[in-house]
Amino acid sequence: MTTTDIRAMKGNREKIPVVTAYDSPTAGLANAAGIPIILVGDSLGMAVLGYDSTIPVTMDDMVHHTKAVARSAKHSFIVADMPFMTVQVDSSDALRNAARLVQDGGAQSVKLEGGERVAEQVRRIVEAGIPVMGHVGLTPQSVHQLGGYKVQGKIKEEVTRIFHDAQDLEEAGAYAVVLELIPSSLAKVITKRLSIPTIGIGAGPYCDGQVQVLHDILGLDIDFVPKHTKQYLRLNELIVQALRLYADEVRAGTFPTDKESFNMDEDLLTDFDGPG
Ligand code: KIV
Repeated sequence: MTTTDIRAMKGNREKIPVVTAYDSPTAGLANAAGIPIILVGDSLGMAVLGYDSTIPVTMDDMVHHTKAVARSAKHSFIVADMPFMTVQVDSSDALRNAARLVQDGGAQSVKLEGGERVAEQVRRIVEAGIPVMGHVGLTPQSVHQLGGYKVQGKIKEEVTRIFHDAQDLEEAGAYAVVLELIPSSLAKVITKRLSIPTIGIGAGPYCDGQVQVLHDILGLDIDFVPKHTKQYLRLNELIVQALRLYADEVRAGTFPTDKESFNMDEDLLTDFDGPG
């Protein structure tokens, strides 16, 4: 999988499935399922690290988790998120951070949030040979400025901004752009007007591809299920059921049995196995 293949998928009207992964086992599973693109999203802050937003996620966190994904995602194209404040300072800083995700983390591409305000950074990173996926609409790193995780593009200024941001990213050299939490009809227009693929999340069915957080589609979090998600599995219930059964068997002394135990020559114990 290369950025050329990804762009060709749009030309061939072949939809692009993308899923997040943050560790080696789940990346291996996504790989085995033939998912062409794995996103090591900074959603790892919520999905794995227990934060309530993506803001505390650091470069070190991203490199650490990208490395784990890269060890088992042999066929999928790996995109690593650039966390909060690793792009905004200036283009040299952004380039250094992008390079870490590729060189130390093993990603093939980076993703960053924002449009016009980060176009210069995108240009610089792409010129250095690192493919960039953009991200517009709801940009979770700006949650405090946006006033919450709300659908974007419901008023004229937002429609104009999102549309131009997506165009600016294409002009700056991005090979794809994530459209998050925007109305389907706006995503449809952007998808039609851009030559690069759009990857939607909460942006309706007309995007060239879809991205979902793995933990959401597998049903690992029962406390919050976003409207844009479909739970293909309720893994949470299965895991709790299995763990309860395990704990019950340990308490009852029915696990482990001989089947899960190891034997030895009992004579070796004669000096030790005395009374008491
Ligand atoms: O971090 C992430 O998982 C993302 C997706 C929601 C697109 O950016």
